[in-house]
Amino acid sequence: MRLFTTLVTENLEMKNRIFRSATAEVMADEDGRVTESLIELYRNLAKGGASTIITGFMYVSEDGKAIEKMVGISKDEHIEGLSKLVSEVKKVDESVVFVAQLCHAGRQTRVSEPVAPSRVEDPSTGIVPRELRKEEIERIVDDFAKSAERAERAGFDAVQLHSAHGYLLSQFISPHTNRREDEYGKRRGKIILDILERIKERCEIPVMIKMNACDFIPRGLEVKDAVEIAKTLEKAGLELIEVSGGMHESAFHYKENMISRRIQKEEAYFAEFAKKIKREVEIPVGCVGGIRSVEVAEKLLEHLDFISLSRPLIRDPLLPAKWMRGESSESDCISCNRCLERIRRGEPLRCEMIR
Ligand SMILES: Cc1cc2nc3c(=O)[nH]c(=O)nc-3n(C[C@H](O)[C@H](O)[C@H](O)COP(=O)(O)O)c2cc1C
Repeated sequence: MRLFTTLVTENLEMKNRIFRSATAEVMADEDGRVTESLIELYRNLAKGGASTIITGFMYVSEDGKAIEKMVGISKDEHIEGLSKLVSEVKKVDESVVFVAQLCHAGRQTRVSEPVAPSRVEDPSTGIVPRELRKEEIERIVDDFAKSAERAERAGFDAVQLHSAHGYLLSQFISPHTNRREDEYGKRRGKIILDILERIKERCEIPVMIKMNACDFIPRGLEVKDAVEIAKTLEKAGLELIEVSGGMHESAFHYKENMISRRIQKEEAYFAEFAKKIKREVEIPVGCVGGIRSVEVAEKLLEHLDFISLSRPLIRDPLLPAKWMRGESSESDCISCNRCLERIRRGEPLRCEMIR
């Protein structure tokens, strides 16, 4: 089966094509430091057989936090805890490709001042963000690069830029939330390109991206925009692309609509977007979103390079190993999203279907 074959990228080797997609843990201390419960979560994931484990989003700037108890990578004091986390994961399985997800919340925050490329209200929260000044954007670019260097020092194998789901980088690439007239608006992918280049100046850590291919918002990002950004980033040395979609605001526009219904019922709902991107680039491309069975995963790999799972591994972190041993061929995650409700309430990540 292709699912259990090796995936080789420019600088990394993954023992299979199953990734754990970034999933916020809500387990750091109040200063963003790693805790024992966070380490335990990742030990279990490392036992579970996924070749690649992407951490939950980590804040790169002190003023870019999305939620309380989010893991921080914004200052050197964070490195010690992150190093311990990496070494504990590697003790369980040295072959795991461990990836730190780097994020700035932008306007999607409950705990920082909401900022964004432009002053566009988020109707799902009523938040009207402050427009970032050019010097602030340059400082954030630097924060991403410094955080990538910290990830490298902590021993991570790669970083992933979070440019999905309406967080700051996703706000920059979206024509809906980025209405700037300066260079960061004329070329909406510029901030990501700057970050990628700045990281490459500072260190050697491979850089991946999780990117929206569609915002599901009127006037939002469409797949053709995502294809262009992907091509530019590939030329600048990006390692791999994980395709996703939607912003927090999307649910407001499409309340009872196809997206929420599709997300409940359909498997692999971003696959068509990922295939469109894959046709235009050489680097590995995979997708996340509703993948629940070996059958669907295997079919996706006819066109894509890997598949990512989030909620199924909250439900059962050992699922990839069970799939490999043939003990299971499906997840029993029912996509009820109670895990998401928990983290929105500030409670640590877990599946509420387990009692
Ligand atoms: C509780 C929870 C936390 C999440 N946290 C993150 C995150 O920190 N970063 C991210 O990129 N996506 C995050 N996501 C989105 C998932 O990575 C994934 O894209 C989405 O859940 C769809 O995949 P799935 O059907 O396999 O769960 C989160 C999802 C859930 C349910």
